[in-house]
Amino acid sequence: MEVKREHWATRIGLILAMAGNAVGLGNFLRFPVQAAENGGGAFMIPYILAFLLVGIPLMWVEWAIGRYGGAYGHGTTPSIFYLLWKNRFAKIFGVFGLWIPLVVIIYYIYIESWTLGFAIKFLVGLVPEPPPGATNPDSILHPFKEFLYNYIGVPKGDEPILKPSIFAYLVFLITMAINVGILIRGISEGIEKFAKIAMPTLFLLAIFLVIRVFLLETANGSAIDGLNFLWTPDFEKLKDPNVWIAAVGQIFFTLSLGFGAIITYASYIKRNDDIVLSGLTASTLNEKAEVILGGSIAIPAAVAFFGVANAVAIAKAGAFNLGFITLPAIFSQTAGGVFLGFLWFFLLFFAGLTSSIALMQPLIAFFEDELKFTRRQAVLMTASIVFFSAHIVIFLNKALDEMDFWAGTIGVVFFGLVELIIFFWIFGADKAWEEINRGGIIKVPKFYYYVMRFITPLFLAVLLIVWAKEYIPKIMVETHWTIWITRFYMIGLFLFLSFLVFLAGRRKNREVG
Ligand code: PFF
Repeated sequence: MEVKREHWATRIGLILAMAGNAVGLGNFLRFPVQAAENGGGAFMIPYILAFLLVGIPLMWVEWAIGRYGGAYGHGTTPSIFYLLWKNRFAKIFGVFGLWIPLVVIIYYIYIESWTLGFAIKFLVGLVPEPPPGATNPDSILHPFKEFLYNYIGVPKGDEPILKPSIFAYLVFLITMAINVGILIRGISEGIEKFAKIAMPTLFLLAIFLVIRVFLLETANGSAIDGLNFLWTPDFEKLKDPNVWIAAVGQIFFTLSLGFGAIITYASYIKRNDDIVLSGLTASTLNEKAEVILGGSIAIPAAVAFFGVANAVAIAKAGAFNLGFITLPAIFSQTAGGVFLGFLWFFLLFFAGLTSSIALMQPLIAFFEDELKFTRRQAVLMTASIVFFSAHIVIFLNKALDEMDFWAGTIGVVFFGLVELIIFFWIFGADKAWEEINRGGIIKVPKFYYYVMRFITPLFLAVLLIVWAKEYIPKIMVETHWTIWITRFYMIGLFLFLSFLVFLAGRRKNREVG
């Protein structure tokens, strides 16, 4: 029984939309920092293992779960888990598949708006200029740091409130409007058409920037030194469990796994269309964008300019430091640097945009599928919730990190484990396996049957336990009131979503009864 539902129009469109979902700020900002901090080349060992043993299997699982739900008219996990497992808990676990993307979009879209704001400022040339002839890193970086801090309104002292510039707020509104403009057109007319333009543009921009960075050479070094640094393995680091945790965390984030967003996109695939090859292709595209392109811009440029030791220090200061301060500062020291800065931020904006629409779609799909909103109503309702919630991140210092930790870091691993257990252990391994392979242009190697059934869940369970033991006590001692507001807000969102799921259930009972 096929339920009437929107579908992707073409296979290439589906693959580009899925790749757009995955390729995001994580590829260009988060990955280089993770790699530089966690042992450079050695990081690639746990990273590749995590890709093969967690990323690929979970990707197939999410595509399969989504396509399965879509055939019954459901695009989000509260209902899909319930299809797979007729138990009240299925719905409660399913709420995480709405909550995680909602919490993440609240900060993700704000960061995305900075990239647009910076792109505009660089395009019109309203940018800082380091003192002429400056050579030491501090004096080159300082004006760019001030620029970022003024933009987002970082307080001078330790006040907890951020005071963003009016420009930043306006650009945030514009970013929201652009997202709504794409989403309101729907799956094939909005998301798919946009991905078909955005993804090739994004790859071209990134390749251009990589080439430009490779030509950088200063007395401190060259981009090749940067690549050497990034890819020389420091095997000692492999003994550190944190490196493994970081690698798995990066795989989840960059492939958009455990967010519910891939599931929702997959729910618009026709019941007998291939997911095996398409899923693999989209994941591989993401990895190319990450390892080859993401790894060849920010870090090599930083090393070429400031040497390895300084580049590591910069990476340790965080993703925003590298992407929003260091890189534009470096470009400013080269011919045409302001324009390069524009290209860089424009690249980030496109990468962010194809991801933020994916993060919004689960809640939109929920309103449409379960509460029978029209698409327009669903998009506007979702955008209003995101807009309202984003004020927490815009004005409260540290709210962003807190949300990123609970939803975007721990939450996704937990949710990935839940998906595997429900699909392979409760729904049933053989049925799940058949569901994944149905319509496949290629077959999944049998080896993966065992990986999905035993290895990945075990690996994730161990990881979560180690993690919980190590991090949660540390994080819970953080008692500043702004952190508590953020936490209560996140709990409030969870309760709100649970209430909506409850309403949807009542509605359905009324229809049936
Ligand atoms: N994968 C995106 C990135 O690397 O930036 C982040 C992301 C986008 C996660 C969309 C989840 C999602 F649904």
